[in-house]
Amino acid sequence: MTQKSFPLTAEFIAAANTTAEQYANNYQQSIASSKASDNFWAERAEWIDWFKKPTKISDVSYDLDDFRIKWFEDGELNISVNCLDRHLRNNPYKPAIIWEGDHPSQHKIVSFKELHAEVCRLGNAMRKLGIKKGDRVTLYMPMIPEAMVAMLACARIGAVHSVVFGGFSADSLGNRIIDSQSKLVITADEGLRGNKHTPLKVNVDRALDMDGTQSVDKVIVVHRTGNSIPMSGRRDVWYHTLIGGESEHCEPEVMNAEDPLFLLYTSGSTGKPKGVLHTTGGYITYALSTFRDVFDIKDDDVYWCTADVGWITGHTYSTYGPLANGTTTVMFEGVPEYPTWARVGHIIDKHKISVLYTAPTAIRSMMKEGDTFVRESDRSSLRLLGTVGEPINPEAWDWYYHVVGGGRCPIVDTWWQTETGGILLAPIPGTVALKPGAAMNPLYGIKPEVVDSDGEVLEGPAEGNLAISNSWPGQMRTIYNDHQRFLQTYFTEYPGYYFTGDGAHRDEDGHYWITGRVDDVLNVSGHRLGTAEVESAVDAHPATVEAAVVGMPHDIRGVGIAAFIILRSGEVANEYLKSEINRHVRNEIGPIANLNAIYIVDALPKTRSGKIMRRILRNLAAGQYVGLGDLSTLADSSVINQIIEVVKVEREQNRNQC
Ligand code: WT7
Repeated sequence: MTQKSFPLTAEFIAAANTTAEQYANNYQQSIASSKASDNFWAERAEWIDWFKKPTKISDVSYDLDDFRIKWFEDGELNISVNCLDRHLRNNPYKPAIIWEGDHPSQHKIVSFKELHAEVCRLGNAMRKLGIKKGDRVTLYMPMIPEAMVAMLACARIGAVHSVVFGGFSADSLGNRIIDSQSKLVITADEGLRGNKHTPLKVNVDRALDMDGTQSVDKVIVVHRTGNSIPMSGRRDVWYHTLIGGESEHCEPEVMNAEDPLFLLYTSGSTGKPKGVLHTTGGYITYALSTFRDVFDIKDDDVYWCTADVGWITGHTYSTYGPLANGTTTVMFEGVPEYPTWARVGHIIDKHKISVLYTAPTAIRSMMKEGDTFVRESDRSSLRLLGTVGEPINPEAWDWYYHVVGGGRCPIVDTWWQTETGGILLAPIPGTVALKPGAAMNPLYGIKPEVVDSDGEVLEGPAEGNLAISNSWPGQMRTIYNDHQRFLQTYFTEYPGYYFTGDGAHRDEDGHYWITGRVDDVLNVSGHRLGTAEVESAVDAHPATVEAAVVGMPHDIRGVGIAAFIILRSGEVANEYLKSEINRHVRNEIGPIANLNAIYIVDALPKTRSGKIMRRILRNLAAGQYVGLGDLSTLADSSVINQIIEVVKVEREQNRNQC
């Protein structure tokens, strides 16, 4: 593979927190032995305010008969104290959150002092509602400061938050409430994005009509748009009424380092989303330390991560990482195209943003609109750019670098997962010339390996599956309610390793390139969706018998969704039915599950043992009709020709429409 690499400017290198030499030395030291690794993390743990300092650093075994992952196990702390109280000593009036509303006329600045006060009020109110350490609380929120307040208030009183992305349907919300058995839901009357209202409270009501959600006693509702919504007298309370009389002092719960901090549901290769569990001491140490390293953080940075709080990025790198470091974090309620595609640039200028962290899909959608919009702003405050969520294609990288960043700002391509809690691979800025599309180097304490399908660890330049041979403090500890599935999913395929589910290429310089998922998980616009999850939503439509869902190349979303569907006899394949099926799937899961192509077929390609051969469907959905590889295991190979005909006709029609 030939690679263009971009050296950093001398100016950036001179001001960077880390030099190439420091990275190399620190990295080597951090992985030299498990003792050396413990020493490294013991030093990093010094950056945390502990009630009781840990004397034990790690206790980890990936051996399935004796499995454990523990970090700082005798340490005691509270994360909200680390994100708030300790900054009040030196910097109470520094902005903690700069909130930019959906409409450009609205913004709000919340200082660390104000944020602390509000978190305390809500913490007290939640305690009065009977919420105790270990209780689960579901948050279903728009991008407003109260979302972060609620997360931190849970952390303050030891409740375990489970944030559900506000774009998920009532059904998806309900299923997550059922799995977590939450006692409390915090939501808003409505969300507001691009001047469109989303019915958050109504969705909560619907979710709470589902069987199995009886654990929920109370719903706290933030007043956002003010439109009238149904409030049930016994169950629902307004946020402002509830916290109005509460004190600004709230005793932080003493948490053990291994006490749970949050659950976050993410898609896997089977139908049911997994409740990824993160704990307290390791997570915050990892969030704080990787945030500082990867974003080269200085005291006066204004940092904007565009991720919604409903995703892990919104947890680690919008909320906990920045606030634990005392960094100002920008939160944007709206969408990049409202009122026009110039919005992102205007926000950068308005708040003098210095570090911008976003996803390739957002970059591509802005790029498609041309340079004029972005050039309405001068963006001279920017000094560093980041990406996350999927591999970034070279065109998008170039545009981000030259147009958005004016050719001055390094781009850190950060690879990680909900499960990893924080970034594992990225070029620490100032330490290495950048290669567009590569996640580059392991962070301190991370030992990545490229393994082949037989589990052989490959040396030197190689292509295979990405596994990690050791543990790090931010690693997930279990799948909530299903420890067996946790062991099965991540530690069984390659015994002794954490298996990521991603493919990777290591080049001749030792740099890592992520090649994409190797399991049945799709990465749509940087969000994870299991093919099985989408398939069961399609199957639930009354007109369908069976469906197979695969990813297909998509200009903006990176990966689009293609569904091959068999209809019930008597049903007629027409455009109306197809859009009806699509609507149904979006309703069941949420708009991110939009089907980009629907192929109505007579049969699916299956092996003699009945397994769907997705490899073939992936090729067909990408418009590759020849060179389909070995078809000898197919039960009936004539199926393929029929599918090819359907796909060809459909793709031809779509082309004519464009
Ligand atoms: C999957 C994890 C981690 C926050 C966002 C998504 C893909 C993530 C990159 C990157 C190539 C990436 C992987 C990974 N991914 N970052 N920089 N380059 N691929 O979190 O929903 O848990 O998804 O996103 O496939 O496994 P997630």
